[in-house]
Amino acid sequence: MKIRIGFIGCGGIASAHMERLSRLEDVEFVGMCDIEKEKAEKSAQRYGGKVYNEFEKMLDEVEMDACYICVPPFAHKGQEEICIEKGIHFFVEKPVHLDLGKAEEIAKRVKDKGLITGVGYVLRYFDVVQEAREIIAKEQIVFARGRYYGGVPGEGKNKWLITKAMSGGQLVEQTTHIVNMMQYFLGDIEEVYGYKIEGINNKIYPGYDVEDASSIIMKFKNGYIGNLTSTWLWSGFNSGVEVVGKGIVIDYQGNTLTVDRGNKRTISVSSLDPMLEEEKAFIKAVKTGNPSYLKSDYLDGFKTLAVTLKAHETMEKGVPVRI
Ligand SMILES: NC(=O)c1ccc[n+]([C@@H]2O[C@H](COP(=O)([O-])OP(=O)(O)OC[C@H]3O[C@@H](n4cnc5c(N)ncnc54)[C@H](O)[C@@H]3O)[C@@H](O)[C@H]2O)c1
Repeated sequence: MKIRIGFIGCGGIASAHMERLSRLEDVEFVGMCDIEKEKAEKSAQRYGGKVYNEFEKMLDEVEMDACYICVPPFAHKGQEEICIEKGIHFFVEKPVHLDLGKAEEIAKRVKDKGLITGVGYVLRYFDVVQEAREIIAKEQIVFARGRYYGGVPGEGKNKWLITKAMSGGQLVEQTTHIVNMMQYFLGDIEEVYGYKIEGINNKIYPGYDVEDASSIIMKFKNGYIGNLTSTWLWSGFNSGVEVVGKGIVIDYQGNTLTVDRGNKRTISVSSLDPMLEEEKAFIKAVKTGNPSYLKSDYLDGFKTLAVTLKAHETMEKGVPVRI
């Protein structure tokens, strides 16, 4: 049995998903939708599917088992809600929304309906991340330290990314991967307190109105503490999570895990493609009706969104905010 897939959004990340899905035997592309119709046409020419520029019309006309929602954060305008109404399983890219109330409602309805959902927290599919979790579970952990340093994506040309109302800013749009990883390692976060710096990139990139850097302190539900620093002021790229416990530092970065026990240091490097693993897990979950293959679902994506949006609330209010 082939799993029939539709795409809403046929831009950068959608193309990466399509390429990997096309390698799986049990996948059939049945619909391609983008408000820029030529992008949907290009995807359909390559992979198949009927072309649309309105997602409502595609979801109304095309029978599908699952839908990939790959639109920018500001463009979540009811795609998930229609999928839920029609009983279509869906995979959605991070961050899952910009409106926390709407995301909470979607998370609830997905659960009530028993739908399979996946969220693009792709780093969770690295084998070294699973290895890190196994080590963390056995150690006496005290805190985690996250970082995300990079340059302004696309040199500020992709306007939605540098516009707060459209992307939510660096923390919500990109550092979200690291927040999500900190939750994967140490569990739910219950309180955040943070600061931000602004006023440098906005003089370089026209229209830039998001933070230049932020620093967040966090308290986890099970007693751990953590901090997270992000900036778009660097020219390179460096992101990861360090988990520290009694006599151990576990450092995860990209495809590499370094475990330092003071007198002994081991390094594991992954060679697998986490995105291919992510597609396989989603398709298998849809096919079998078993969500346990997935390492990130909508509820998980919602929890990460909550932390990043509440972090902005604390930066505005100047007081700690509970999640
Ligand atoms: N998981 C990851 O590692 C990863 C990597 C890159 C991007 N992303 C996420 O994927 C999302 C999309 O990013 P991207 O880089 O592909 O952006 P993009 O701009 O390349 O593509 C987005 C596409 O969505 C289309 N679109 C917008 N509104 C639409 C609507 N209502 N209906 C149909 N199509 C619509 C746009 O025309 C565009 O083609 C973002 O949320 C981003 O954070 C995730």
